[in-house]
Amino acid sequence: MTTAVSMTNDHSAPSRVAMGELTRYDDAPLLTDIAANGQGVFLTWADDSQASLPYLWLRDHCACSECRHATTRERLYIPRADVDAPQDVSLERGHLHVIWADGHESVFDGGWLHQRRPGTRSQDQVPERQPWTNGFSPERIGHAAFVNGPEGECAWLEALLRDGLVMLDGGPIADEEVSRLAERIGPMRPTNFGARFDVRSKPNPNNAAYTAIGLALHTDLPNWRQPPDIQLLYCLENEAEGGESIFADGFAAANALRDQAPEAFRILSETTIDFRFQDDTQDIGIRAPIIELDADGRVVEIRFNNWIRDTLQLPAHEIAPWYAAYQAFWQLVHAPEQQIEFALAPGEMIAFDNRRVLHGRRAFDPNTGRRHLQGTYLDRDMLESRLRVLTRQG
Ligand code: OGA
Ligand code: ZN
Ligand code: ZN
Repeated sequence: MTTAVSMTNDHSAPSRVAMGELTRYDDAPLLTDIAANGQGVFLTWADDSQASLPYLWLRDHCACSECRHATTRERLYIPRADVDAPQDVSLERGHLHVIWADGHESVFDGGWLHQRRPGTRSQDQVPERQPWTNGFSPERIGHAAFVNGPEGECAWLEALLRDGLVMLDGGPIADEEVSRLAERIGPMRPTNFGARFDVRSKPNPNNAAYTAIGLALHTDLPNWRQPPDIQLLYCLENEAEGGESIFADGFAAANALRDQAPEAFRILSETTIDFRFQDDTQDIGIRAPIIELDADGRVVEIRFNNWIRDTLQLPAHEIAPWYAAYQAFWQLVHAPEQQIEFALAPGEMIAFDNRRVLHGRRAFDPNTGRRHLQGTYLDRDMLESRLRVLTRQG
């Protein structure tokens, strides 16, 4: 059967077609021309962009209430491996209308199609990660701006996703403020230290953070299959001498290691080692590399925490090269030019990407005053979600 193609020449501003999609798609150029063939439709928009969309794809993306649930917006249609050419394809007021061989009808918003044309990523608001450059210091967002409107919160989310580190300042000295701020974004991610933890020196500590000793740079909980993505540390008291916070961009450091000591980089990214936490009630461990790469060889995660590195179980001939590689990376991340350092003031909250940015602190003297931070963790998915929701409301 041949497909009829018709067009109305009405170029008045189109109304939108409901596509079961909450992200806005109303600022795209007008769909001005269509040409159908046996496989699909060739589309042209007013900005001269063009796309070829197979019938298979179009049928799968029908947004009618039979194909997409009207309330949940979830897909109901189950795709098949092929679709008969439609009876009719037409362009009406900037939108693509299709009458399928079985009589089912679909309407596709021209702007929605433009956003999704092959070769373009849909217009996601989530920023790409950017490595720190010389002189980097974290963006500062005021607590009032964060809580009083979407701009401050969006700026905070964007900086955290982009730089892996952002400072909030001017907050109240209030117990649990960290939980209230976290819960605007998403549920707090619980771990064996609880959903919310207090960092101060404690009797019988089960963790180096709960002492007054200095903490070399590390990531938290690399002994978990999925370590927490984002850490928030809210300062309530910081009167003690010492206790300054230190940070380093672990991805930038790993990439520097790749340039300066490729063999060390190869060993740390290819060799899995054991990480483990044990106390009276928990024994949580996993074997993983220190530097994790994706399929394209890009650094995607750093697991670096010397306290909870477990027994090094490697063949004898791999042991000395592994320690040499570890030492090289240790020295690189602790080099002054890789680090930034500052003292947290009460009412400040530092947030960081725990799977990218290494954190630590200088030793403090608990006899000179109190130091008390409250912390929690969040999933990155919740940050990205919050940013998309705030953006589409704006
Ligand atoms: C931690 C930690 C840093 C600090 O609790 O994981 O690293 O400044 N704390 O006490
Ligand atoms: Zn449908
Ligand atoms: Zn830590």
